[in-house]
Amino acid sequence: MSEKTVPQLNSYDKTLIVPPDKSISVRAVVLCSYAVGNSTVRNISLCDDVLSAVDCMKHLGAKIDIQGNTAFITGAPFRSCALDCGNSATTARLLMGLLSGLNGVFEIDGDSSLRTRPMKRVIDPLRIMGARIADTDGHLPVRIIGSPLRGMEYFMPISSAQVKSALLLAGLNCSSAVTVTEKIKTRNHTEIMLNDMNGDVALDGNTVKCAGGIIFGNDITVCGDISAAAYPIALALAVGGSCTVKNVGLNPTRTGFLDIVRKIGGRVSVDNRTDCAEPYGDISVSGGKLRPIIIGENEVPLVIDEIPALCALACHIDGVSVIEGAGELRHKESDRISCTVAALKSLGAQIEETDSGMIIYGGKPLKKGTVNPQGDHRIAMAAAVAGAAGAGAVVQNAECVSVSYPSFFEEVLGV
Ligand code: S3P
Repeated sequence: MSEKTVPQLNSYDKTLIVPPDKSISVRAVVLCSYAVGNSTVRNISLCDDVLSAVDCMKHLGAKIDIQGNTAFITGAPFRSCALDCGNSATTARLLMGLLSGLNGVFEIDGDSSLRTRPMKRVIDPLRIMGARIADTDGHLPVRIIGSPLRGMEYFMPISSAQVKSALLLAGLNCSSAVTVTEKIKTRNHTEIMLNDMNGDVALDGNTVKCAGGIIFGNDITVCGDISAAAYPIALALAVGGSCTVKNVGLNPTRTGFLDIVRKIGGRVSVDNRTDCAEPYGDISVSGGKLRPIIIGENEVPLVIDEIPALCALACHIDGVSVIEGAGELRHKESDRISCTVAALKSLGAQIEETDSGMIIYGGKPLKKGTVNPQGDHRIAMAAAVAGAAGAGAVVQNAECVSVSYPSFFEEVLGV
């Protein structure tokens, strides 16, 4: 697969099962590999990012056996080694936190895209705790010499679940507690998982405290990924159709996308809801006449990975959609502000880049175009969605979707 031709679709009514949640799967692999004892992770995502995490944890010494979509993991004391995190920033950042307080010397690297992503945001607070990390100008590769860490109280200057998670994991091996406060709450899967594995984690509003503790192996079942579900849902809404996605995670720190769909006039219903630490259910969405999308800084952390999908949808909604306060998008797998704008412009969209977001003049007809997603899975999916609801698209380097949604083109678009 290097290029995919996406046809124009005039209707879309589909029931889908999307891949298991990538954020939860990576955390399950990392935490179960570190935990004492055996774990079983059912319905684990087999996307590239999770496989990178599996590879890293095997190098560190964990035993991981994947049978179908179940991973059997036996934790082990970690040994010094060099780790390749591929494209997965979640793996790299979580491991920086976890490894900084352990015995050993660890080198962490990744692919050319991951090497461009900012790591100072993790390294600086870890250094305050006593971590010894040699970086490459604030980027990967880094070399960690495991050292005794001390706790701290940290107010996060940026909203990042990866940074928060790294600090909480460092807190597992600290002489005193680590307390992290966020301005805007970000996804809380690490807190939930640590808690379920016997970690000493306390929550108070936007503050999380990790006071260490031995974590034990667990049985985890991963729900469907709402960030993946956003792309077929956006397509259904863009063509006035409907879409049901089964067993999708409904953790409130991840459902900002559904709130926006409701706000613009989409109908959202949830069936078979199961309430547990990581709630899930079947989401059904259908559209009609939608209003433009307006997203401000406070909503961004809750929809950070769905913004390309929302931009694709905005191209098909009459009126001016505005996304602002989303400067963090410039630090994703690509500069997602300029790449989203470039991708949608290739399809004839009227879209402008701003410092911290984009403005979309929607409801104008698109043309069939060729899109280079710059190796970014979410840009490839957004281009495919905008094109399918427009006049079609040719998506180059389409295999990059395997970072999060390997079967996207086949299952969502039938190509
Ligand atoms: C993630 C957190 C977010 C998100 C990424 C996955 C996680 O990144 O964009 O896709 O699993 O914690 P940041 O922490 O950089 O905001």
